[in-house]
Amino acid sequence: MAHCIEWSRAYTHRLPKNAGEPFLSRRKDLSERLARELAAGELPFLGMPYREKLREDLPRLLPLIKPFRHMLLLGIGGSALGARAIQRAFAPGQDEPNHAGPWLWIADNVCARSFEALLGKLHPADTVVVCVSKSGGTIETLAQYFLVKDWLRAATGERWREHMVVVTDRTRGYLREEVLRHGLYSLEVPDFLGGRYSALSAVGLLPAAFLGIDWQSLLDGARDLALPLAQTPASLGVHPSFALACWAKALEKHRYTQLIFFCYIPSWAAYGLWFAQLWAESLGKNGKGTMPVPAVGVTDQHSVNQMFLDGPRDKGCLFLTSRSRPQCGSFGADLPEQWSWLSGKPFSSLLEAEALGTRMALAASGVPLVHLDMEDDGPRAAGALMMLLEAATVFTGWLMDINPLDQPAVEMGKRLANARLGAKGYPGEEAGLAAFLAEQRQEQMF
Ligand code: PA5
Repeated sequence: MAHCIEWSRAYTHRLPKNAGEPFLSRRKDLSERLARELAAGELPFLGMPYREKLREDLPRLLPLIKPFRHMLLLGIGGSALGARAIQRAFAPGQDEPNHAGPWLWIADNVCARSFEALLGKLHPADTVVVCVSKSGGTIETLAQYFLVKDWLRAATGERWREHMVVVTDRTRGYLREEVLRHGLYSLEVPDFLGGRYSALSAVGLLPAAFLGIDWQSLLDGARDLALPLAQTPASLGVHPSFALACWAKALEKHRYTQLIFFCYIPSWAAYGLWFAQLWAESLGKNGKGTMPVPAVGVTDQHSVNQMFLDGPRDKGCLFLTSRSRPQCGSFGADLPEQWSWLSGKPFSSLLEAEALGTRMALAASGVPLVHLDMEDDGPRAAGALMMLLEAATVFTGWLMDINPLDQPAVEMGKRLANARLGAKGYPGEEAGLAAFLAEQRQEQMF
């Protein structure tokens, strides 16, 4: 048995059977590009050249942080979403009754109230802080870092350093300078490994290891998936990630503007948010791309599914299931007459039946649908899925003729926020802000 992509309902309705072929025919030039970029070390998420070093570095660091009860992760975007998805999938205990630790708190916003509440309730002596930023210069993460540094110092004095781990670029950025200045523990984010492609590096795996998650299996699953591409780039044309990319590009061409990520592995629900960021930040460029829409089965059958089924016919769907069945109780023999057909069936049969029903209903409503059916829902399977989606995202970007590894449009807002706070070196943004704020406002009070 293996993981399976079921294509039977992928090319349907407005998406003709041969809609992927023009993109498939680009496999030769794109496999040459793949070979070139791998050789230049520009796709480390795929080749994972950092794996061996991480396998040495992480076990060295772990004994130093394992004694802490709490990990507080400071990071945003790609520096937070992978860790959260992995935590929710494989260490959900802290959201369940009677959890005895460890705890992972991910601070990926600048809500003063909740951040203060977090610091007010955590005890510095019990807490290791992990500050994650590839660039080492993200304002949200640095602002948290400055506050937390003071918080640790006030409680532990010079020993604050023993409570801080920095995950950042190997040589560059303010956080790397902090590591050198204070002799902080640190792990590297390898060159060319951008935030949303970094979940399977120290960025996502340090928190995973702290929680006792089998991080090596996550890596192994990703490696299994990537190996054919990394070893034989010419095989791109037969790799499932490229088939997904051709389908996604065909969807976009045929005016399907939204891509649903319907997750029927409920414990993997947070992967929807991870995927949404990966897809949107990578592909939303030059007026191109499709909008990722994360949804969770069965919960969202009672929410957004009506729109999926009978709203505008502008959606494709990645539909995710797992063949593994959790051990669980069955319904008793003494159910009321009108529910007696449930007797003897395991509770888990509901999820399976509802997934099947929803998948058929979506297909019948004209939603082109690719069914990703995982052999099981363990960490190795999750690693494979993450790699599949990361590779598919990059190849979709290549087919769209955009750069899937940058995010230039979001820079403007960041520069304006810096200017607003008085940072030096933003004269254009300062002038722009002044003009924006001076505009006549059209207001309606309520
Ligand atoms: O995916 C990305 O590249 C971004 O979402 C980044 O992860 C995010 O902006 C945070 O950047 P950094 O890790 O440099 O702090």
